[in-house]
Amino acid sequence: MEQAKRIIMDVDPGHDDAVALMLACGSPELELSSVTTVAGNVPLPKTTNNALRVLSLIGREDIPVAAGASSPLKRQLTTAENVHGESGLDGPDIPDATFGPDNRDAVELIADTLRESSEPVTLIPTGPLTNIATFLREHPELKERVSRISLMGGSIGLGNTTPAAEFNIYVDPEAAREVFSSSVPITMSGLDITHQAGAGPAERERLRHSGRLGGVVAEFCEFFATTYKRIYGFDAPPLHDPVAVAAVLAPDLIETRPMYVDVECEGKLTRGETVCDFYGIAGKPPNAEVGIKLNREGFFELLCDALKKL
Ligand code: BDR
Ligand code: CA
Repeated sequence: MEQAKRIIMDVDPGHDDAVALMLACGSPELELSSVTTVAGNVPLPKTTNNALRVLSLIGREDIPVAAGASSPLKRQLTTAENVHGESGLDGPDIPDATFGPDNRDAVELIADTLRESSEPVTLIPTGPLTNIATFLREHPELKERVSRISLMGGSIGLGNTTPAAEFNIYVDPEAAREVFSSSVPITMSGLDITHQAGAGPAERERLRHSGRLGGVVAEFCEFFATTYKRIYGFDAPPLHDPVAVAAVLAPDLIETRPMYVDVECEGKLTRGETVCDFYGIAGKPPNAEVGIKLNREGFFELLCDALKKL
């Protein structure tokens, strides 16, 4: 087997962030070097505790977890308890974490991991982009050690937090704008493809029988299904964040198109909209590979296979 690809995940767990961590840990093709947390779905102490709880459950106490930003660059934090519950991981009972956070903060841990790695590292942010923007501001000298940013966020089309904006980008649009203009190669897994990763009743059953943690994943999805049904009328809650991991693990599962993407930071109705130049009308060079189609069957196979390895 080829050498495992090194990744750092920046997360705000969140049910789908938790499943994204599991997908990464169950995939020998990836080496999850560090995890950093950001305020998003719930405030920072909870996202950090949730990341520690999920890694404890997986048995990966060896992965350092560092807490990052407790609020967006310029705005008040917006959270999503309506989707993920008060804890951020409502649903199944999850034991307390068996280890604590690293002494470093998120930006320091990202910087140290990049410095210590002999090869470039892929960043996978699945929450608001506050930590990633701060890292790029504070460590421009390390930018070249980042091979790609594979992020979950944005949408070519509809939003899920406002009619125009997806949650992660809505929460910290200024950070997202800095990341999209950083010139680091970006893969954007937005709602256009993550909504193709809906875990309906059949997928939930399949997940339930996928390894030791399948039951927990199925219960995450059951909780997620209830809130998605109530808010959006969906039967199949989308496993957004694992798609950003799949984009690194099995890029063939995702059809992308190069586009110039900018982020609306001023608009009253459109705060946090990712404005994607699908047709190249503005004539600006593309700054992102934007997902337009997901191989849904392949995605669930990848996820179930990974869960069986945990
Ligand atoms: C994104 O927002 C969060 O609620 C999810 O964890 C995902 O990262 C989807 O819009
Ligand atoms: Ca998330």
